[in-house]
This record gives sequence, structure tokens and C-alpha cells, in this order.
Amino acid sequence: MAYRVTINGETRDIDAPEDMPLLWVLRNELGMTGTKFGCGIGMCGACTVHVDGVATRSCALPVGSIGERQISTIEHLSQSPVGAALQQVWLDEDVMQCGYCQAGQLMNATALLTSNPNPSQEEIENSMRGNICRCACYKRINSAIAKVAA
Ligand code: FES
Repeated sequence: MAYRVTINGETRDIDAPEDMPLLWVLRNELGMTGTKFGCGIGMCGACTVHVDGVATRSCALPVGSIGERQISTIEHLSQSPVGAALQQVWLDEDVMQCGYCQAGQLMNATALLTSNPNPSQEEIENSMRGNICRCACYKRINSAIAKVAA
């Protein structure tokens, strides 16, 4: 089936089965490999993108269900002032270890601070809890988010 989807402000025509997860459309059809595959069952957060600004697991989002909603990925994150600030603090604070989960972490953190610019530590922890980091960088991730919080 053919779909027209808006990704990072650009309209893209995609020919894919309607149940193909957005993750695979991004990575395999469009060559946008910044969004990572972790578990493929909506459990780890590595594949997080924004759908109308809301953090969403792209491995669990069939391309046929996207419709008019706006998709934003890690490749576009620096266009968001909050996303750019988080990326800078991530570098300044040496947040990453292996780095594999970090695109998903940054997408989720950006959605959090965009909707709630001044979250408590508890709100940060609750919001980030579903993004698994195999290297257990949780402390650095949460403290970097707190640094960007207003
Ligand atoms: Fe989508 Fe793990 S790959 S949540």
C-alpha cells in the first residue's frame, strides 16, 4: 500500500504493508537509522520518536495508522530548542556509555521537558523509567535532564 507520511516536516511517499512498524519504515525504507531497534515489542524505548510531539515507540506503530500525524525523529531533534539543549548537556556531561539507547532517551526527555519544562526529580524518573539503558547510565541521564529543566 502507498502512504503519505510527514516526517521531520517533509512529506514522504512510502510503499509498505500497512502493518509495517514505523521503525522499519524509517530504517529500511527511508535510510533514517538514528532510531534504534531494541526489543521490537514496545518494551525498551530505543525506538522512541515523536508523534505530534508525544513520545511514541515506533516499533509498535503501524505505518497504516499514522495518517495526518506529524512524525519527528532524532535526525530532527536539534531543530527543537529543548532537544538541542539536551543534546548539548548530553555531550557536556558525558552521559553516554555505549550510546545505543540514547536516541530514544533524548526523544523521550525532549517530550517530557516540552510538556513539563520544570519536572521534579520524581517526575523525571517516572517519565524516563521505560527507557532501558543496558549500561545503566540512568543517574547521568536524569541529572542531565534536570540541568536543562527550567
Ligand atoms: Fe521499540 Fe524496544 S524497540 S520499544
